[in-house]
Amino acid sequence: MTKLGTLFVTVFTILVMGLTSQMPAVGTGRGEKIPAPTFYKDVVPILQNKCQSCHRSGEAAPMPLVTYEQTRPWAEKIAAAVEMRMMPPWFADPRYGHFANDPSLSEEQIATIAAWAKAGAPAGDARDAPAPRMWSEGWNIPPPDLVVKMPRPVQIPARGEVEYTYEIVSTHFAEDKWVQMAEVRPSSAAHVHHAVVYIRPPDSPWLRHAPVGEPFTASMLSDPEERRQAHETTSDLLLVYAPGSAPDRWADGMAKFVPAGSDLVFQMHYTTNGEVASDETSAGLVFAKSPPKQRVITLQLNNHALIIPPGAEDFRVEVQGTLPNDATLLSLFPHMHLRGKRFEYDIVHGDGSVETLLRVNYHFHWQLSYKLAEPRELKAGTRLRAVAWYDNSRNNPHNPDPEKTVTWGDQTSEEMMVGFFDVAVPAGMDKWKYFIRRKEVGGKER
Ligand code: HEC
Repeated sequence: MTKLGTLFVTVFTILVMGLTSQMPAVGTGRGEKIPAPTFYKDVVPILQNKCQSCHRSGEAAPMPLVTYEQTRPWAEKIAAAVEMRMMPPWFADPRYGHFANDPSLSEEQIATIAAWAKAGAPAGDARDAPAPRMWSEGWNIPPPDLVVKMPRPVQIPARGEVEYTYEIVSTHFAEDKWVQMAEVRPSSAAHVHHAVVYIRPPDSPWLRHAPVGEPFTASMLSDPEERRQAHETTSDLLLVYAPGSAPDRWADGMAKFVPAGSDLVFQMHYTTNGEVASDETSAGLVFAKSPPKQRVITLQLNNHALIIPPGAEDFRVEVQGTLPNDATLLSLFPHMHLRGKRFEYDIVHGDGSVETLLRVNYHFHWQLSYKLAEPRELKAGTRLRAVAWYDNSRNNPHNPDPEKTVTWGDQTSEEMMVGFFDVAVPAGMDKWKYFIRRKEVGGKER
C-alpha cells in the first residue's frame, strides 16, 4: 500500500539538530588581513551550485539568489542559515552513508559566506563572476520529452483542511515506455504539500469508476469500496514530490516502466494559506534513449501497528524484512508525520551486526529522498530494517496534542511509519514477480 499522509502545518520553524556553528570566520583570531570574499568571485559560485536550484524565480524558495541586487539584502540571513546548516536543507546524519544528492556546504564554503556577510557583503568585480548558470526553463531535468498535465485546475480554498485530491490523466501511450527522469511541477507550489504520481496500468482495477481528467476526492466517490481504495493501491509510484525533493534521474540503463495504455494518477495534498488559489500540476518525463537493462521499482517497509503513548519523547518503532530477490538499492525516502523525530535504515547482517545506511534527523516539512552515492548490490535474503523514533512530548513544537495516544492514519494528527526505497531489478521483472521467492530465505515476510 502506498500513501503519503497529510502534513498540514503551513508555518514552521526549522528545528536544528546537532548545531555545529562554531566555525571561525576567515581571518579572525590570527590578526592577519585576508581580503574579504566578494559576491562575484567567491559567493556566486556557491549560490549557483548549492542554492539556485530552489532560489531562482519560479522555484520553491521565497526569494531568488541570482543577482547581487537580489542577494545583498539577505546577506546576514544567508550567513546565519548556512552557519546553522539550515540551508541548503539536508537532514542526513553525516556519520552514515554517502549520498549523491547531498547539497551540504563544506566548512570552507560556510566560512566564505560568513566572512562575506561580516565584511558588509561587498560586490567585488563583476568580471570575476562565473558565467550565469543556465537552467532549462521551468525544469530541473533536461527539457522533458513529454509533459503530462492535470487537465482541470483544482480550486483551493483560502482556509481549512483539504481532503486529498486525485486527478487521473490518460497517457494514451500506444507502446510501453521507459521513463529515465521525471519531475513534478505544481503551478501553485505554495499550496502543494505533497504530490504522488502513480502509474495505473490498463489492467489495474484501481479507481476504475472514478472520473478521468477531472479532480475528485475519495468522499465524492459513490462506491464505498472505491472510497476506501483511493488510499490503497499496489500501483507503482512514478515519483513523489514534496518541498525540497529532487527530481528522479536514473543512471543510464535504469528506468521506471510505464506500460502502454497506462494512466498517471496524481494524488495531491493541498494546504491552505489564507489565499484562494488554483493548481494544475504537471509531470515532466524524459524517456530512456534505449530500453534499459534494469527496471526501477519503489518498495517500502511499513509498520502499521504503531501505538505511541502520550508524552513519549523518543518512542521507537521498527520493522524488518528480507529481500525476496537480488536488487540494487538506489535511494531511500522516509515518511512520518508531525511527531517524527528520527528515521534509520539498516542492514542486519547474518552475524547480528547492524550496518546503518541512513539516519535522518526528521523534519516533517521537508521530505527528501536520499540517493546513494554508490548503488548497493543486495542479495536475496538480505535483511533490511527500518527504525523510526517519535516525539509525542510537549517539547516537540509541532506536536498537536501530547495527551493523545497516536496510531496509524492519514491525518497529520495521526502517524505513519514508511520507509520507501527504490531498487533496480532486471527489466523483465515487475513488483509482483519480485516478491516471488525463488527459495525460502528465512525471516519475516514483508
Ligand atoms: C531544496 C530547495 C532549497 C535549496 C537548495 C536552498 N534553499 Fe534556502 N529556502 C528554501 C525554502 C523553501 C525556503 C523558505 C522556507 C524556509 O525558510 O525554510 C528557504 C529559505 C531560505 C532563507 C530564508 C530564511 C529566513 O530566515 O527567512 C535563506 C537565507 C536561504 N533559504 C538561503 C539559502 C542558501 C544560502 C542556500 C544555498 C547554500 C539555500 N537557501 C538553498 C529552499 C531551498
